[in-house]
Amino acid sequence: MLIQHIVGLSGLVAACLFIFGLKRMSSPVTALSGIVVAGIGMVVAVAASFLVVFDLPADVAPNRVVNVMLAVVALCVGGGWAFLRGRKVGMTAMPQMVALYNGMGGGAAAAVAAVELSARAEPTALGMATTAAGALIGAISLTGSVIAWAKLDGKIQNPWRFAGQRIVNGTLFLATVLLGIALVVSSGSPHFALLAILFFAGALAFGVMMTLPIGGADMPVVISLYNAFTGLAVGLEGFALQNPALMIAGMVVGSAGTLLTLLMAKAMNRSLANVLFSNFGDGAAHGGSEAHGEMKSADASDAAVAMRYASSVIIIPGYGLAVAQAQQKLYEFVKLLQAAGVTVKFAIHPVAGRMPGHMNVLLAEAGVPYDIIFDMEDINAEFPATDVALVIGANDVVNPAARTDTSSPIYGMPILDADKAHQVYVVKRGQGKGYSGVENLLFFEDNCSMVYGDAQAVLTQMVQAVKDLAA
Ligand code: TAP
Repeated sequence: MLIQHIVGLSGLVAACLFIFGLKRMSSPVTALSGIVVAGIGMVVAVAASFLVVFDLPADVAPNRVVNVMLAVVALCVGGGWAFLRGRKVGMTAMPQMVALYNGMGGGAAAAVAAVELSARAEPTALGMATTAAGALIGAISLTGSVIAWAKLDGKIQNPWRFAGQRIVNGTLFLATVLLGIALVVSSGSPHFALLAILFFAGALAFGVMMTLPIGGADMPVVISLYNAFTGLAVGLEGFALQNPALMIAGMVVGSAGTLLTLLMAKAMNRSLANVLFSNFGDGAAHGGSEAHGEMKSADASDAAVAMRYASSVIIIPGYGLAVAQAQQKLYEFVKLLQAAGVTVKFAIHPVAGRMPGHMNVLLAEAGVPYDIIFDMEDINAEFPATDVALVIGANDVVNPAARTDTSSPIYGMPILDADKAHQVYVVKRGQGKGYSGVENLLFFEDNCSMVYGDAQAVLTQMVQAVKDLAA
C-alpha cells in the first residue's frame, strides 16, 4: 500500500518536473537548468517503475528478478551509449541525433504496445483500441524518424518519388488502420498473431513511405512532427498501462511537438500539408519574379573598415555560418567592433539554419551574450536606423521578395528587414541560391554589396583588417 502511494506521488512529482523543466527551456539563459530538472523528473519516473515491479505479488511476476536485471543492463547500455555520443556530437549533427532518439521513443512505445497486444493484456475494447493506436503512431514515428535521420546525415540523398505515390501511401495507411481495427475486434481469434504482424509491418512501412518523398531540407519540421507522434504514442500507452507519469510525459511531448511543428510551418508561411506533400525544398527551381540589376561585390577588408567606423551594426546569421563553423571568428570580430564603440546586435529569424534555435545555440557556443541577441519581431523596427546589416551565410530569411513578390513561393514568409539598413554586406561563397531555391532580390539592391568567400575565411580577413587599423 505504501509503495503504491509512493509510486502515485512520484508520478505527480515527475510530471511537475517535466513541465517546470520545459518552461525553463523556453529561454537560453535557463535552458540548461531546464534540461537538468526534466532529467531528474525522468530519473524519478524510472525509479518508480522499478518500485512497481517489486510491489507486484510473486505469482503475477514470477520472473521479476531476471526482468529487472535485464532492464538494468538495457538502461546501462542505452544510457552509456547516449552519454558518450551526446558528448561527442557536433553542432551540425544535432538534428540527426534528435531524429534518431525521437525514433527510439516511438519504437519503445510501439514495443510496449506489441507486448500488451501479444499478451492480450487489455481486457476492454477501449484498452485494445488505445494500445493499437499507440502502436500505429509509435511504429510510424520509428521508421519515419530513421529515414529523416538518414536524409539529414546525407545517407539518403534524393527524395524518392513516383507517379501515384500519394494513392499508394493513402492505400497503405488505410489498410494498416483496417488491420488495427480487425486486431481490436478479433482478440482471441486464431488469426490474431498474423493480423498483429501485418498491422505492425504496415505501420513501419508507412513511416518509410511517408518520409521518403519529402525534401531533405524540410526534415526539421518532419522530425518535430514525429516528435509529436512519439509523445502521443507514449501518452496512449500510458493510458493503456494506467501509468499517469507516462500519460503526462507523453502529452507534454505531444503538445510541445505539435506547437513547434506549427510554429516552424508558420515562420516559413507554409501549411503542414505543404511541407509534407509539396516536394518543396529539394533544390528545384520554384518560380518568383526575375531579379533586375547587378550584384556588386566588395572586399572583406573594406566591409570591415566600414563597420569599424559605423555606429550601429546588426548581424544576421544563417545556415552558412553553421556550415563554416565560423561563430568563434564572428564573435572575435564583434568584440573588436564593440571595443571601437560600435553598437552590435544579432537578429535571429525563427527558422534561420536547419533546426529550431540553431543560431541561438551556435552563438551561445561561441560565448555571445544573450542580451545582444534579438528575435525578429523585437529587432525588425531598428533596421531603418541602422548603419550596416551584415548577413552571414543567410539567404531566404532576408529575401525582400517575401514582402513584395506575390508570385514568389516564399511570399508571405516573415523576414528580417536587412534591406532597410543604410548599407548591407552579404557574406556567402558565390551566387548560389538559398534553401528555397529562389533568387534573393536583396543582393541586387543599390545598398547591398556581396563579400564572396567562405564565412570562416572572410571573417578572418575582417578581424585582421580591424586589427590593422588599430595598429
Ligand atoms: P539558406 O536560405 O539555406 O541560405 C544559406 C546560405 O548560406 C546559402 O545561400 C549559401 O550560399 C550560404 N553558405 C553556405 N555555406 C557557406 C559557407 N561555408 N560560408 C558562407 N556562406 C555559406 O539559410 P537561412 O537564411 O538560414 O534560411 C534557412 C532556410 O531553411 C529557410 O528557408 C527556412 O525556411 C529553411 N528551414 C529552416 C528550418 C529551421 S527550423 N531552422 C526548418 C526547415 C526549413 P553559397 O552557396 O553561395 O555560399
